[in-house]
Amino acid sequence: MSYILQGKWEEKRLDDQANIDQFSIQDELKGIDIPPGAKVLDAGCGSGILCRFLEGKFPEIEVSGCDQSIQSLSYAQENTKNISSKYFQHDIVRDHLKDKYDYIFNRLVAHHLGEEQLKRTIQNFFQALNEGGKIHIVDVDGVFLNLGTTSPLLREKIEKVKQAFNGDLQVARYLPSLLFETGFKNIACKIEVMNFQGRSRVLEVEQWKERFVSGLSFYGEVFGNEFEAKKFFKEYTQEAAKEHVPLFCNKFIVTANKS
Ligand SMILES: C[S@@+](CC[C@H](N)C(=O)[O-])C[C@H]1O[C@@H](n2cnc3c(N)ncnc32)[C@H](O)[C@@H]1O
Repeated sequence: MSYILQGKWEEKRLDDQANIDQFSIQDELKGIDIPPGAKVLDAGCGSGILCRFLEGKFPEIEVSGCDQSIQSLSYAQENTKNISSKYFQHDIVRDHLKDKYDYIFNRLVAHHLGEEQLKRTIQNFFQALNEGGKIHIVDVDGVFLNLGTTSPLLREKIEKVKQAFNGDLQVARYLPSLLFETGFKNIACKIEVMNFQGRSRVLEVEQWKERFVSGLSFYGEVFGNEFEAKKFFKEYTQEAAKEHVPLFCNKFIVTANKS
């Protein structure tokens, strides 16, 4: 299981996250046009938020979403009643996709995988795209790590989490090279600073509280027990709430063609 956020409210959190300006799906898709009839997959769809968005924007495409989490797929299905997106369980790292697609989206999943697993995932996507097919990957580079705290103790704890994490919180920067090495063409990479200030900071700190609760079993292991983990959550979120402490990361929006 590569995803550490296993909370009961994880899907609701993902929906709320997309309402923060820095996570705007509308902005990520600027300039993207998908022709009617295209077969589109959102790989690692979570709550189904991107599937719903895509169907709303391009009503004549055929959208599917896959995820390894049954809980997320049930939520996605339940919240997509009025439109026709289809959902199925699939491990994007381990298994080849059975169908072929014209467009594959993969949003905010890469840093949970780490470089080796991401490499395999990209190869699976390449194999599952039709000739002329396109890929659209969004990921956050430096998320969690980029808190400009001067507290040596908090920095030490952040480093401890970084070391224990199965994924790679800075893997987004390798996306263009990994796509190139897999054989993708026309690789384009947009990098935007996600700088949480004012209302966005308040919302992002709320997100952190929820991410921490959902990841309690992971953090409990990192810090030895749940009491110490909760102490860390409080220290991190209190620091992140201070307007003078930078809370930021880089959003990578990477697109490429199979041929
Ligand atoms: C941060 S959420 C992002 C969800 C959604 N793409 C969004 O933009 O809100 C990461 C998602 O990736 C899924 N995931 C992680 N590893 C996976 C894997 N190996 N196969 C399929 N899904 C995976 C998780 O279950 C989770 O739903």
